Amino acid sequence: MNYLIDTANLEDIRHCNEFYPISGVTTNPTLIAKEKTDFIALIKEIRNIIGPEKTLHIQTVQEKAEKMVEEAVFIKNTVGGAFCIKIPICEEGLKATMMLKEKGIKVTMTAIFTPAQALMAAKAGASYVAPYVNRLDNIIEDGVSVVGEIVKQFAIYGLDCQVLAASFKSCEQIHKCALSGCHNATIDAHLFKGLITHPMNDAAIAGFAKDWKAVYGDKSILDF
Ligand code: E4P
Repeated sequence: MNYLIDTANLEDIRHCNEFYPISGVTTNPTLIAKEKTDFIALIKEIRNIIGPEKTLHIQTVQEKAEKMVEEAVFIKNTVGGAFCIKIPICEEGLKATMMLKEKGIKVTMTAIFTPAQALMAAKAGASYVAPYVNRLDNIIEDGVSVVGEIVKQFAIYGLDCQVLAASFKSCEQIHKCALSGCHNATIDAHLFKGLITHPMNDAAIAGFAKDWKAVYGDKSILDF
């Protein structure tokens, strides 16, 4: 499963890009608006941080297919590199997805809550679908099961579309998605740390340092 960071916060993107094996960044209008800064400068700086090969997913704010396509072309030309336009699932969004497929611009169909929506998005030509795990859990549905069903559907029909699970609030949700064969997960910066933290780690690392020092003092391997 690939990890992406779900934020438009430059400090968090810089940190996660340096310390974690991320394959891209996802944003949405809420995350962009949270930064209260110039949109173009912000997306250009995100690209600058992650480089051209990691995928940048930026969402359209248009409601009509033709305008969504126009916006997708504009953003792609602005940020360059690996890019996906995020489009929420709806009739206009599906139409835009089919038009963008013709133009060779990749689509991440977002705000997915059911396997039926995901299948329709994949048939329209989306490269990724983004089911919202925690928002489903919050209405007493099972977000991880929805992700698992979408993965299964895509495998049954051999569809060239990946699941990019989103809206996570816990490491357990992420872990269970990984077990379900989910292809990608986009997560908050603080959850990256949670995924590598274990109460026994500090003691294990301290033990190695203590045993080494007892024999070699402050000498490091490079001092030999
Ligand atoms: C990402 O693509 C989604 O827009 C995002 O993960 C939604 O997360 P939220 O439910 O925390 O807003």
